[in-house]
Amino acid sequence: MNSEQRKKSLFFDRLAEEWAGHGYDADEVHRVIELIERSGIQPGWRILEPGCGPGLITPLIAERVGFDGYVLALDISPVMVKHCRKRTDELRQVQVELGAIEDLEGHRGKFDLVFCFNSFPHFCDRDRALQVAAECLPLRGKLVIAHSNSRQRVNEIHMRAGEPVKRDVLPEPRALRRLVESHGFKVLELHDGHDSFFLSAKKR
Ligand SMILES: C[S@@+](CC[C@H](N)C(=O)[O-])C[C@H]1O[C@@H](n2cnc3c(N)ncnc32)[C@H](O)[C@@H]1O
Repeated sequence: MNSEQRKKSLFFDRLAEEWAGHGYDADEVHRVIELIERSGIQPGWRILEPGCGPGLITPLIAERVGFDGYVLALDISPVMVKHCRKRTDELRQVQVELGAIEDLEGHRGKFDLVFCFNSFPHFCDRDRALQVAAECLPLRGKLVIAHSNSRQRVNEIHMRAGEPVKRDVLPEPRALRRLVESHGFKVLELHDGHDSFFLSAKKR
């Protein structure tokens, strides 16, 4: 981990207990489930979930892939990892690891889906993160970047949340499409909605 990632790791460590305790509010839960549905997760899929946080959605995606599937949940914050492990304790298809997406190695073509849920803007090196995502997927493997708030709301929250994340902006749709496509993906769907954001792409 580099020094910027370490600062973010400490920042998210401090938030982890609170997030693990209360989860999403009732309204957001509906949007979270809708976004998961929209991702088209199938039984048996292998999913990489970078920025899993305290594991609020990890059990939901693990349920969908079932015991024949696999979820590798990854986070740079040790306290988030601790909570995510606790939440997925009985799900043998889930593995939770401490680490940055940018540093992930040895998973070439191994996943069906890289699922960045409420996490993409926080990756310090987005080019590297997308390069890793592309490496981890086979041809036609899927990338999803999803947020359970509007892009404007996400960016407002980050700007006010504190120094380590105040520049963690979700790019405007055209710029994000260009960025994703520059790493060998074809964007299939891009919805910049009033209360959620959803991009799906396939590796070509
Ligand atoms: C806003 S939280 C979202 C957590 C979870 N996905 C959710 O929706 O509840 C973002 C998470 O991304 C993690 N994170 C930030 N940069 C990361 C990176 N480069 N690699 C992996 N995880 C990262 C943070 O530690 C934090 O737990």
